[in-house]
Amino acid sequence: MKNLAEEYGSWALVTGASSGIGAEFARRLAADGVNLVVAARRLDRLEALAGELTEAHGVEVRPVRADLTERDGVDAIEKATADIDLAIVVNNAGAARPGNFLKSGVEDQLDVVRLNVTTPVQLAHLLGERLVDRGRGAMIFTGSTAAFAGVPTLANYAATKAFVGTFAEGLAAEWGPLGVDVLVVHPGPTRTEMVEMDGVDFNAVPMNWMTPDKVAGKALDSLGRKTVLIPGAANKVQRFVFTRLLSRRATSAIWGTLMGRVTSADLR
Ligand SMILES: NC(=O)c1ccc[n+]([C@@H]2O[C@H](COP(=O)([O-])OP(=O)(O)OC[C@H]3O[C@@H](n4cnc5c(N)ncnc54)[C@H](OP(=O)(O)O)[C@@H]3O)[C@@H](O)[C@H]2O)c1
Repeated sequence: MKNLAEEYGSWALVTGASSGIGAEFARRLAADGVNLVVAARRLDRLEALAGELTEAHGVEVRPVRADLTERDGVDAIEKATADIDLAIVVNNAGAARPGNFLKSGVEDQLDVVRLNVTTPVQLAHLLGERLVDRGRGAMIFTGSTAAFAGVPTLANYAATKAFVGTFAEGLAAEWGPLGVDVLVVHPGPTRTEMVEMDGVDFNAVPMNWMTPDKVAGKALDSLGRKTVLIPGAANKVQRFVFTRLLSRRATSAIWGTLMGRVTSADLR
């Protein structure tokens, strides 16, 4: 297993580090001696994480309160990273607003686009240039296994993750020859706060759950070796069936049946 500080450099940014997969990205990077800028809205969580990681690994951690549905959030990250030799960027913050699209508020859905798409594009542009200029670095995007076809009641979320996957693959081809490794990790069901959304019960259908530390660990281990990672055997099989064996329409119909069981009646 390579040491990430030796391989890429001594500073990383992780967005969405206040819980779940992002917090585990931060823990694993810190264990390799990488200093961190961690961003999210819940500053108390970020400060607690910073204390934990500094005590455990002696790394410097800068918590940044940032709402990444807003340009101000990106500006806060730009300011917090201006004086460091940033080597690794993890675009992980993300959210979903499940439910019948027309029953949801359009601004809520646009916030999902801003968080999952607009901000990663802004950060990739802003920070990717620095990685390319230093001739070595890594950028990770967190996608989803929902990215591979339309998903009823998660139509907008699935589409944002399809964007993330395609965007990352394009950047990987552009930046690979310039020394920057790009990876998109598409997690399947992962036990985090995200799956505890109101009106949604993912325990209503059988799921192959992964833990966030496994997802983050596999992603970091795959840097430089893969561009697209589907962590977990069951998720790999699902992707094969959904993308190679079934039509996109049939896949969406299966998603519809699953999500019909998962979402409460008032969300459908
Ligand atoms: N869990 C799953 O089953 C699953 C499956 C596939 C993909 N994913 C993806 O994995 C990534 C991480 O999610 P998770 O599962 O770890 O869920 P999580 O524990 O809910 O983490 C989401 C992170 O995003 C941050 N975030 C949400 N809205 C934000 C905003 N407006 N501005 C800044 N940060 C914001 C949250 O921090 P604050 O609330 O403190 O702002 C939190 O740190 C997401 O991109 C998600 O789409 C998750």
